[in-house]
Amino acid sequence: MLDRIDKVLEEINSFTASNSSEIESFRIKYVGKKSIINELFEDFRNVPGEQKKELGPALNKLKNLAQERLRELAEGLTSNRDQVASEIDVTLPPIHNSEGSIHPISQTKSRIIEIFERQGFNVEDGPEIDNDWNNFTALNFPENHPAREMQDTYFIERDPDVLLRTHTSNVQIRLMNKKKPPIRSIMPGRVFRNEAISARAHCFFHQVEGLCIGERISFKDLKNTLYYFSREMFGKDTKIRLRPSYFPFTEPSAEIDISCFICGGSGCKICKKTGWVEIAGSGMVDPNVLENCGIDSGKYSGFAFGMGIERITMLKYQLDDLRLFSENDLRFLKQF
Ligand code: DAH
Repeated sequence: MLDRIDKVLEEINSFTASNSSEIESFRIKYVGKKSIINELFEDFRNVPGEQKKELGPALNKLKNLAQERLRELAEGLTSNRDQVASEIDVTLPPIHNSEGSIHPISQTKSRIIEIFERQGFNVEDGPEIDNDWNNFTALNFPENHPAREMQDTYFIERDPDVLLRTHTSNVQIRLMNKKKPPIRSIMPGRVFRNEAISARAHCFFHQVEGLCIGERISFKDLKNTLYYFSREMFGKDTKIRLRPSYFPFTEPSAEIDISCFICGGSGCKICKKTGWVEIAGSGMVDPNVLENCGIDSGKYSGFAFGMGIERITMLKYQLDDLRLFSENDLRFLKQF
């Protein structure tokens, strides 16, 4: 019996509780009516007289210890709870959880992608560092042609063949080398030009290139695609106008203007009183470009376009300084 008492004593001493239900099971097991200790007291009755002298005090000690331990456990839990409660002051105003927002350039880019995807275009990607062939030569910019100077280029000193792309048109070439027609893709990305930074010009900005190649693709398809885009982007009443232009890689080439969505065409500051604003360059892919990529220009034709994401964002939100996009000024960014 003494052994049983010792065993229970040990159990009680090493018992720990982290919640009230554990304390309750302690109470039931060691203190309650049907506890082990009460069982021991029952057995104690049948113990021979001389053993009672030794076992009696031991049993009483065990009973006291169990009660004492129960009190300690209960106290431990409440003081713990008090401590947690004092750390959380429920009367304080809530901590403001400031959420970031998506950069306006990214928002415009996503919107452009969404509109072209609905017209069956997929998204392709290309490198920001490329070679002269993909950025210029294959796009029909002859060596030393003044058209190369339309875009001031950052070259890599060590290797004049390597440059930071001046437009996303380099991806047209990469794509046509990789994939044969039909092609219907847009290619968003960052481009670089060696320009003095001002409200109207920056040394890096973003473009979305478009390319559609197939059998019997005509100027009508170009016009329809960009008309649909303009109405989705700037509103259902938007009209478009195509102005003859020049790019080495398209023939014929056209600049796409939209009717000014601010003044509706009557003339304002945004459209410089003309009623029209330019949104993209475009044209029918020059047969030389197709041939440079191994595509039979007798069989296939296509159109291409390129638009500036900053420009479209500035028009949409009536912003007048390009630098805002790259200054990381939260007062600006939080407004989107
Ligand atoms: N790459 C031209 C630029 O950066 C934009 C452009 C014009 C792209 C006409 C085209 C295009 O694909 O057909 O100014």
